Amino acid sequence: MLLHVPEVFTKAEVTALRRTLDAGPWTDGNVTSGHQSATAKRNMQLPEGCAPSLEVGRLVTQALEANPVFVSAALPHTIYPPLFNRYEGGQAFGVHVDNAIRRQGRDGLRIRSDLSVTLFLSEPEDYDGGELIIEEMYGSQSVKLPAGDLVLYPSKSLHRVMPVTRGARVASFFWLQSLVRDDADRESLFKLDVATQRVNLDKGPSDPAVIELTALYHNLLRRWAEV
Ligand code: NI
Repeated sequence: MLLHVPEVFTKAEVTALRRTLDAGPWTDGNVTSGHQSATAKRNMQLPEGCAPSLEVGRLVTQALEANPVFVSAALPHTIYPPLFNRYEGGQAFGVHVDNAIRRQGRDGLRIRSDLSVTLFLSEPEDYDGGELIIEEMYGSQSVKLPAGDLVLYPSKSLHRVMPVTRGARVASFFWLQSLVRDDADRESLFKLDVATQRVNLDKGPSDPAVIELTALYHNLLRRWAEV
């Protein structure tokens, strides 16, 4: 499942984040690539661990943890510290799959990447190209979102970034390990949660159907979660 989460940040917040990021020490993006992707990748990146990356990364993680749609869809176990990239002057990232295991440094945090996230930090009208193309079972999806919005997709999907032929595309990208490893199980839980919230709005939290659906949700989560 590919999910668009709107307005993780307001426009004013994006402007403030961009001010910090744009002043950062941008370098060649190949420093974080795995073997397969190193050849296909042409972009700039903020070094992992530099001050602007850490500062804005913390704000991104906080915003995600406070976003009920994101939490319900991703069921995050561990969010890898967000990274930042920038494409301009024809830069692109050819088709690839993200590494299964992500490790920070030599003996830092290690996660299994279940879900990949791109948080857009440039307005679509400020650049040409730069679409994120995600190959799904039923065909390719092209994603180019307003600044402040994100897309969440299974890390097992092949994906690429089209060349940016005008302006610059700045984004945050990162991976997370989910409490629920299987994409279909996680998607079922998300749909059950959305449906339960809908009944809750209609009938109120003490309605027997809401209580039974909530119990079902938690009992499925208990079966499937790895904590
Ligand atoms: Ni990727």
